[in-house]
Amino acid sequence: MNISTLLKHVNKLTPLDHAFEDDSVGLVIGDESNKVGNFIIGHELEESLLDYCKDNNVDTVVTYHPPPYKRIINEDEIETHIPDRITERFIDSSINVISIHTAQDVCKEGNADTLVELFNMSDVSIFANSVDNFGAGRKGTIKKLSPFDFKKYVENKLNTKIIRTNEYFDDIKEIQKIALLPGSGTQFIDEIINSVDVFITGDISHRYLLKADEARLGLIQVGHISTEIPGMKKFVKKLEKELDLKLNYIYRKYYE
Ligand SMILES: [Fe+2]
Repeated sequence: MNISTLLKHVNKLTPLDHAFEDDSVGLVIGDESNKVGNFIIGHELEESLLDYCKDNNVDTVVTYHPPPYKRIINEDEIETHIPDRITERFIDSSINVISIHTAQDVCKEGNADTLVELFNMSDVSIFANSVDNFGAGRKGTIKKLSPFDFKKYVENKLNTKIIRTNEYFDDIKEIQKIALLPGSGTQFIDEIINSVDVFITGDISHRYLLKADEARLGLIQVGHISTEIPGMKKFVKKLEKELDLKLNYIYRKYYE
């Protein structure tokens, strides 16, 4: 199999043209004509993944997050992208990288849909749209829970202890309407602010905690990758079935 064939299989499960417009998905390092020997799934480019690739002669990685680049705008306003050190090391090691990122968030049975299933949500609608009716956010109804029980529920469902709330969260009487966005999603907060009791996402900055307090919206911040891992595990299973082989999925458990 070469990279272009692998890309076709990936695209079948995770249509890449449904990603957000400015997102970097598809083949991001390497060439479509390259041969795929050993390949694995990684959550993102980082040292332990590179070590694993080197130790196991892995030449191709399908990652969730795209490789990090630094964006530089020069005096003539021309934009260039400089690879971060870790990106450079994968380039130098001639490892092909295919990234699925927001295409995987928005797709059918992708990261957002997997959260709907995990939290047993009903009356589900989509927000944070990428293209057409595809979007990375889901809001809907769950069984009624107290804030205390809901926190335990989130920890349990997402297999994490890294959880933080805004101050208003403990004033909520009962939680029944929730919104979720895998990874980091506070930029979409205005789309759900008056329609749910609680919003769960990662990387919540201080000003959003205050904004949600003012709007009487509960916020739950979990580790960034905790909301992405369940959907990625499903993707791995689907790709294994599609290609009829076993695949390793590597992510940093510390950050779950
Ligand atoms: Fe992410």
